[in-house]
Amino acid sequence: MTLKIYKDHHQLSDTAAEEIIELVKQKPDAVICLASGETPRLTCRLLIKKVKEQQVDLSQCTFIGLDEWAGIPPSNEGSCHYFFQHELFEPLQFRSEQIHLFDALSANLEDECLKMDSAIFERGVIDLMIVGIGMNGHIGFNEPGVSFNNYSHVINLDETTVTVGQKYFKGGAVLKQGITLGLKHLQDAKKVLLLANGIKKAEVIKKAVEGVVTNSFPASIMQTHANGWVMADEEAASLLDKRNNYPA
Ligand code: GLP
Repeated sequence: MTLKIYKDHHQLSDTAAEEIIELVKQKPDAVICLASGETPRLTCRLLIKKVKEQQVDLSQCTFIGLDEWAGIPPSNEGSCHYFFQHELFEPLQFRSEQIHLFDALSANLEDECLKMDSAIFERGVIDLMIVGIGMNGHIGFNEPGVSFNNYSHVINLDETTVTVGQKYFKGGAVLKQGITLGLKHLQDAKKVLLLANGIKKAEVIKKAVEGVVTNSFPASIMQTHANGWVMADEEAASLLDKRNNYPA
């Protein structure tokens, strides 16, 4: 694992967007997985700008959505579908064949997991996985206690996730289960970027980077990834003991 500290959210997001651009330039049919949420929103916006400025062709790459709230329709502004559709797919004019998202309204969510795993395995592995970190240390919906060896799965949401998750939904939402890529996908991925910004992420970043590697705190798995970068802004990195050893 490599820790990278940036001045602010903008600098961090700019680097993450640049990573996508560089990958696609080298490998036009790259398989890219992205999280939704507040953290990667700026990365998406900067990516769109860079793609247009540099005329990068994303038409051959495959896009994988990290997770989704079970039972929440794509039309709901709080859904991951909605985020990707508006922040990425429409602005970049992705074709539907390029996109793989969990159908969280499916009567058979287990089948959705198998479909997602097949979509990834058919293409080999994920080239670049860009994830966030939850306030309980989750990645995607890999909640505390999850196996490190799962591929896609359905999971009961942790209390913290249900509470924090309300921020995405105007007027609130009933959140019970999530459908998510597993941490085995993360271990298999050629490169993983975990993004975190803001003081509220300082404690979880400290645990992820300097704590014990344990499934009680899923983001600690980053420590085991040979090509995993934890990318934090100054605020999110502010509690790290060894932060001065890792200049940006
Ligand atoms: C959410 C999602 C994750 C996301 C994380 C952090 O619940 N399941 O995929 O990365 O929590 O979200 P945010 O970036 O909004 O802090």
